[in-house]
Amino acid sequence: MAEELYNDGTHVCVAFYDLVDEGLDHAIQCNQFLIVDDGHGALLDPGGNMTHSGLLMGMQRFMPSRQLDYILASHADPDIISSLNKWMVTSHCKVMISRLWTRFIPHFTTGKDYSARIVGIPDGGMAIGLGQAKIIAIPAHFLHAEGNFHFYDPRSKILFTGDVGASLVDHLEAAKPVRDFDEHLQMMLGFHRRIMVSNKVCRLWVNMVRQLDVRMIVPQHGCRFEGREMVGRFLDWFEKLECGIDLVAQDNYRLPA
Ligand SMILES: [Fe+2]
Ligand SMILES: [Fe+2]
Repeated sequence: MAEELYNDGTHVCVAFYDLVDEGLDHAIQCNQFLIVDDGHGALLDPGGNMTHSGLLMGMQRFMPSRQLDYILASHADPDIISSLNKWMVTSHCKVMISRLWTRFIPHFTTGKDYSARIVGIPDGGMAIGLGQAKIIAIPAHFLHAEGNFHFYDPRSKILFTGDVGASLVDHLEAAKPVRDFDEHLQMMLGFHRRIMVSNKVCRLWVNMVRQLDVRMIVPQHGCRFEGREMVGRFLDWFEKLECGIDLVAQDNYRLPA
C-alpha cells in the first residue's frame, strides 16, 4: 500500500513498502518512492522486475506513469534499478545516476541506445528541477557504492538515503517509523558493518548532512527515522560506526582450504 510521507496539496512524497511479496524470504524487502510536484513526477530507486508492476499500478493514483519525468537512482544495484528497461519503454523519463554508472546501466536494457535519456550526476551532486520544486542529489560515495547519491527534498525536508539507514525487517514492519532506536539497532548493525565502506566516509557524510534541515531519513530497506530527535539519534550512531575496511584483517583474506 502507498503511504504518503508528505502532502501539502501540490507536492507529495509517497513510499511503497510492500511490493516485494511477503512470501519472498529469498528476496530482501525494499522500498520505492515517488515524488510528485505540480503534475511532474520522479521515482526514486524503483527497484527490479519484482516491484515493477506493483509500482506502476500504485503510482497511477498520484500521476499517470506515462508522464514520469525522472528516475533518480542512488546507485546501480539490482534492487535499485534493474527494472530500467520497462520504465524506458513505457515512459519518456530520464534516468539520473552517478556518472560512474551511466555506461553500466544500459546492461539492464535490451541494447537500444538510451544515452540521451541517461544523465550522469557529477561527483559533487546537483539540483534537479521537478515541477516547481528542486530535488538535491547529495554525495554519498562509498555508502555503499563508489558512485552514490542521496536525494534531499527541501520542501518536505525528507532525505532519501538508499542503503544508508537500511534495516532488515518484513514489509509490515518497514511501513512503520522507528520507535525505539536502541531496539532497532539489531536490525541495522550487521548490514551496515558489512555493506558500508569505512568510518571515514560515515563521518564526512554526517558532517555534510548536519548542515541540512532534515525532518525524516528514509532508507530504501526497512523503517524510516521520523522527527529531528530520531534523525539525530541515527546521525550520532552512524558517525561513530566502524564498518567495511575498518574491520577487516589478514584473516579475511586467506586462501580457502
Ligand atoms: Fe545497494
Ligand atoms: Fe539496497
